[in-house]
Amino acid sequence: MHLGVDFGTTRTIVAYVDRGNYPVVSFFDSNGDAHDHVPAVVALEHDRLRFGFAAVQAAAGGAPTLRSFKRLLARGDVHADSPVTIGARSFPLMVILTGYLRAVLESLRTASSIEDAMSGAVSPDAVIAVPAHAHTAQRFLTMEAFTQAGFTVTGVLNEPSAAGFEYTHRQSRTLNSRRTRVVVYDLGGGTFDASLVAVRDGRHEVIESLGVNDLGGDDFDLLLARTAAHATQRVLEEMQPRARTELIDACRAAKEQVTPQSRRLGVDVAGRHITVALEDFYQDAAPLINQSLDTLEDLISTTGGTGELAGIYLVGGASSLPAIPRVLRARYPRRVHRSPYPTASTAIGLAIAADGESGFSLADRLSRGFGVFRESEDGRRIAFDPIFDRSTRISPDVVVERQYRAAHNVGWFRYVEYSGVDQQAHPAGDLSPYAEVLFPFAAELREHHDLSRVRVERCDNGPWIRERYALDSNGIVSVNICDVDTGHQLDVVLAADRTATARSRSYQEA
Ligand SMILES: Nc1ncnc2c1ncn2[C@@H]1O[C@H](COP(=O)(O)OP(=O)(O)OP(=O)(O)O)[C@@H](O)[C@H]1O
Ligand SMILES: [Mg+2]
Repeated sequence: MHLGVDFGTTRTIVAYVDRGNYPVVSFFDSNGDAHDHVPAVVALEHDRLRFGFAAVQAAAGGAPTLRSFKRLLARGDVHADSPVTIGARSFPLMVILTGYLRAVLESLRTASSIEDAMSGAVSPDAVIAVPAHAHTAQRFLTMEAFTQAGFTVTGVLNEPSAAGFEYTHRQSRTLNSRRTRVVVYDLGGGTFDASLVAVRDGRHEVIESLGVNDLGGDDFDLLLARTAAHATQRVLEEMQPRARTELIDACRAAKEQVTPQSRRLGVDVAGRHITVALEDFYQDAAPLINQSLDTLEDLISTTGGTGELAGIYLVGGASSLPAIPRVLRARYPRRVHRSPYPTASTAIGLAIAADGESGFSLADRLSRGFGVFRESEDGRRIAFDPIFDRSTRISPDVVVERQYRAAHNVGWFRYVEYSGVDQQAHPAGDLSPYAEVLFPFAAELREHHDLSRVRVERCDNGPWIRERYALDSNGIVSVNICDVDTGHQLDVVLAADRTATARSRSYQEA
C-alpha cells in the first residue's frame, strides 16, 4: 500500500494508490461516523495525551487542547525539544508530532476505509509534504516525526508541487503546447503558498514558489472571533482559554458555512447569538486576502505574465471562502479553476507521487537560500557567503565547493536560511539561523572538546581548507570541512536542527 499523507495545520488527509486511481481514505471516529481527515488536535485528558478524534472528544469533555501545532514548526528557532504547552503541562514538540502521527497510523490500521489492507503493513510507505517555504529544520523534524511514528518516508514534496500533480491528473485538457504552466494558489489552515509549475509530458518542474508561512484560514477565524467578542464587550485575548477556544471554533464553523449567496454570519458567544454582516467580515479580511494576491501577482509578473498560463488552481480549504475565487476571477478572467477537492488536492498529488507507474516526475527547487556567516579581515568583520541560491534545483548532483587558506585558529560557521537577498547580497527577509559548526584550523586544537570556549585568533600560515556542500534528494544540506594538508575532516548534516551530531574523523587522504 503506497500512501500520500498530507499533514496539515487543521487536518491530516491521506490518499492511496489504487491501480491508477487515488482515492481519499475515510476515517471513522468513535461514533462510527466517517470523515475524510484526522483532525490535527491534541488534548490532555487526566494527564494523558490524546490525539485526533480522541482529542476532539476529550476537548468536548473540557480537557485542555491545542490545535494547529504544525504552525510551531514554522518558527525559525524550532527544534525537537521546543516546549509545547497544553493546559498546565509542557511537552517537547517531537513528542506531540510523533504521538499525533502515530494516532493517524493507528486510525489507518483500525478505523479507516483501508483498515483491512493496512492491518498487516508494518511500516507503510508514505510520500509526505511540507509547505514550500519550510526551512530545513521544519523539513527534517517533519520527516523524523513520520519515521518515528512508524511510516517509511519515501519522499518529501513541497505541498504546492503535489497539488500541481493533482491538477495535471484532473485538468490535463487545459494544458497544451502553448499553455504549459500552472500556478497553484494554496491557502490552507496555516500557510499560503503560490507556485508556478511547468508541465510537459508528465514532467513537472517547479519554476518558482513564493509564500507566506503564517497566513491561512486560522487568521480569518481569529478576525471573526475578535469581532464577535467585541460585539459582546469582550476582548478575545483577555478571555479564558476555554471560552476563547470555543469562540474560535464557532467562528471557524460559521466561516465554513458561508456560500456565495450568504449575507451574514451567525456566531454563538457566551449564550448570545451574534450576527456579523458578511461584507464587514470581508472588509476586515481584505488585508489577508490582499497579502495572498500580492504574492500571487509577484509570482506571475516575475515569471513572464499570464501568456503561457493554463490555469490558476485554487486549492487549500481556506480558498473555499467565496470572496477568494471572486477576487481572483476578477483579476485573472477565465484562468481560475477550483479543485473539486480543495482540501484533498495535496494528499491526492502525494499519492500520485507515490505511484511509480503514474508517469509523472518532479524537479523541485530549494525555495529558500542557504548561506554562511563567517569571520573575515582578522575577525573584525563578519562576511556573508551565499552557498545555495533559492532557485537551486534539488538534486544529489548539486555540490558547491570553497577552498581557502585558513586565517584563524578556529573556523566558526553560522549557517542560515533566508527568503531573499538585498542589494549587497546579504540575506534579507525571513531569516532562520539553524546551525553553528566549529572546526579547528589549528592542529593543536584538534583534541579540544569544546571549541566554543576557545578565543578566535588570527594566525598566519594556516592549513588549506576545503568546504564541500551537497544536497540530498529532500533538499537537506550536508557539509564536509576538510584540512586538505592533513586530511582532518568533519561531516555534518545541517538539517538536524541544533541537536545535530557532528561526526569528526581524522585520516590521511591518499
Ligand atoms: N467551506 C469552507 N469555507 C471556508 N473555509 C473553509 C471551508 N472549508 C474549510 N475551510 C478552511 O480551510 C482551512 C483548512 O484547509 P486545509 O485543510 O487545506 O488546511 P491544512 O492542510 O490543514 O493546512 P496547511 O496546508 O496550511 O498546513 C481551515 O482554516 C478551514 O476553516
Ligand atoms: Mg494543506
